[in-house]
Amino acid sequence: MPLAQTKKSGRYYIGKSEEVLKTTPFRNLRGKINLIFTSPPFPLNSKKSYGNMLGEEYRNWFSSLAPLFAEMLTNNGSIVIELGNSWEPSRPVQSLLPLQCLLDFVSKEDTGLRLIQEFICYNPSRLPSPAAWVTSKRIRTVDSYTRLWWIAKNDFPKADNAKVLRPYSQRMKYLLATGRYNAGKRPSEHKIGEKSFLHDCGGSIAHNLFELENIDPDREVRLPNNVLSFSNSNSNDFYSKTCKKKGITPHPARMPIGLANFFIEFLTDPEETVLDPFAGSNTTGYAATLLGRKWLAIDAEEKYVEHSKIRFEDPALEKTRGSKS
Ligand SMILES: C[S@@+](CC[C@H](N)C(=O)[O-])C[C@H]1O[C@@H](n2cnc3c(N)ncnc32)[C@H](O)[C@@H]1O
Repeated sequence: MPLAQTKKSGRYYIGKSEEVLKTTPFRNLRGKINLIFTSPPFPLNSKKSYGNMLGEEYRNWFSSLAPLFAEMLTNNGSIVIELGNSWEPSRPVQSLLPLQCLLDFVSKEDTGLRLIQEFICYNPSRLPSPAAWVTSKRIRTVDSYTRLWWIAKNDFPKADNAKVLRPYSQRMKYLLATGRYNAGKRPSEHKIGEKSFLHDCGGSIAHNLFELENIDPDREVRLPNNVLSFSNSNSNDFYSKTCKKKGITPHPARMPIGLANFFIEFLTDPEETVLDPFAGSNTTGYAATLLGRKWLAIDAEEKYVEHSKIRFEDPALEKTRGSKS
């Protein structure tokens, strides 16, 4: 099995994950991975350049990954999988396939897997799709989010939401500064005590909805503090600019680095190991390095693995812990 990149912080393997995860280097790592963070090829109705499977074939393949992933995890480790929606071929009907995939994955025998929480990643600048129904016939609205499923082997995977706080709203900052607010019962039945809101915790607790861009410039989006960038296009980062300079087509389905940052910080500690079995341009490995974690990556396409080396030429890595690769 070819190993394309070895850095101090991680290793990138070329091959199909379902095969690579059964080889000796990965057998030796069973029970040692703290987080599997990945965005697999999405189920689609038509083939994309990075080779998606369709329908039932996809569903069977997806659920076959459950035992392979589960055995790699530490007992308190997590799996986070990003998946988009798909649509029935030639019909204005959303496919149930992604939901079936989730149900199959978490109910796979002997894995002990369960859904811990679902996150939604909303992208206001998503191109109108499915185009036939949204822009031509105008009978559906824009499909504008992906889901991230946080899955684990027991009910208490390691997690600390204090590590991924959002900045306080202007209102909360004012309240903390003045110490004045209306205590008592809210219409929601919540009881707000006299001093409940007077302690500054450094930020507010993150939500399970991410907006990649501000829709209303006057509204505060308040993304978690330590999410370095939720920028959607990624078009200005070092990887994209260097690909352009070198005449390389960047990976067509890169995830926003902010997503990787958020889950790596939320669910792991420094020096722990993050695995991305569908790593593409290796956004996960890059984020892990920036955050002082170790990483392992796999991708079936040699060219993506090769091009991902550009990420590790980024001078920003020199300034960070664990970056001397
Ligand atoms: C959605 S992309 C991942 C993009 C990545 N998160 C990034 O930010 O660059 C999915 C990747 O899975 C890879 N892939 C598809 N089937 C695979 C398989 N069976 N094993 C490993 N990689 C696979 C594709 O080559 C593609 O790069």
